Amino acid sequence: MSGAMDVVCVASWNVDLIAHIAQPLARGQTQMAQHFERLPGGKGSNAAIAAARQGAQVGLISRIGGDDFGQMGLDLWAREGISSQFVLRAEGEANGTALILVYADGNNSIAVFPGAGAGMSVAQVTAAKPLLSQARVVMSSCEVPLAATQAAFEIARTHGVLTLLNPAPAMPLPDTLWPLVDVLTPNEGELLLLAEANDIDSAAQRLLQKGVGALVVTLGERGCALFRPGEDPVHIPGHAMQVVDTIGAGDTFTGTLAVALARQTPWPDALRWANAAAALSTQAHGAVTAMPTQLEVRSLLQNPL
Ligand code: RIB
Repeated sequence: MSGAMDVVCVASWNVDLIAHIAQPLARGQTQMAQHFERLPGGKGSNAAIAAARQGAQVGLISRIGGDDFGQMGLDLWAREGISSQFVLRAEGEANGTALILVYADGNNSIAVFPGAGAGMSVAQVTAAKPLLSQARVVMSSCEVPLAATQAAFEIARTHGVLTLLNPAPAMPLPDTLWPLVDVLTPNEGELLLLAEANDIDSAAQRLLQKGVGALVVTLGERGCALFRPGEDPVHIPGHAMQVVDTIGAGDTFTGTLAVALARQTPWPDALRWANAAAALSTQAHGAVTAMPTQLEVRSLLQNPL
C-alpha cells in the first residue's frame, strides 16, 4: 500500500499474555487463573487497528523483534490493511510483551516490557518523513521512546499535520513535547498524575497551559470531556455496557478519534463516535477482538443499548 495516509501511528507492538483471576493479587500471593489467552496488543498497534476498522488508510512506524511474535504483528497488520512499510524488524531482539491480569469485574493491571520497541530511534522516525508529512493525523503513545514521538510530532507540525498523543502509561513529559501536542487523550488517572492535580478541571487547565491544543479525558462508561483553551468543557455521555474486559478500550477511543479528526468531523460528533467505539471494544476478551467497524459504531449510536 502506498500514498498519503489518513492516520500514521508511531506504534508500540506487544503480545499480550492475559490471565483471568478473581481479584487483584496481594503482594506475595499466588492465585489460580480461570482462563489464559495470548493475543495481539500494544497501545500503538491497538489504536492503529481501531483506526483501520473505521475504514481509514493507516500506516505504522514501529520496531519489532525477530521471533514468532514479530511475525504475528506483521500478519495482523496485513490482514487489517495497515501499511507496515516503515516497520523495522530487529532480528535477535525480543518483542514487546504485556503481562495482563484481568479481574472478575472486567478491570485489569498491566506490566509492559517494550522489547525491541525501546530501540525505536529518532533516525528511524526521520526516515519515515515521507509518510509523516503527508498524513492527516500522526498519533503516538508513551509506550514508544519519547524522543521518537517528539521527532514525529516535529515533522508533523512542520507540515501542518494534526498530532494526537495518548499519554499512556503516564510519565513525565519533556517541556518541549507539550506544545507539539494538538490533542491529548488521557484517562482520568493519567490526567491527574500528569498534572499532579486532584480534580479533572484543574488538571486539564494545567496541561492546556503547558501548550496542549485540546484535551479529551476518557471517563469509562461516564463518557469523556473535552477541554480547550478559553472554552467551556464539553461533556459527552458514555454507554452502559456489560463489560467483558476493558483491555484496549482507551486505544480504541484514541484510534477512532484520530479517524474522526482526520475526516474533520465536528468535535461533539467525533467524541460520540469514539465513545461508542470504545464501549463496543469491551464486549470480548483482548484488545483488538471486539474493536468495531464503522457500521457497528453507527448502529450503536442509532440504537443505544
Ligand atoms: O492499552 C492496552 C494495551 O496496553 C495492551 O494491549 C498491552 O499490550 C499494553 O500495551
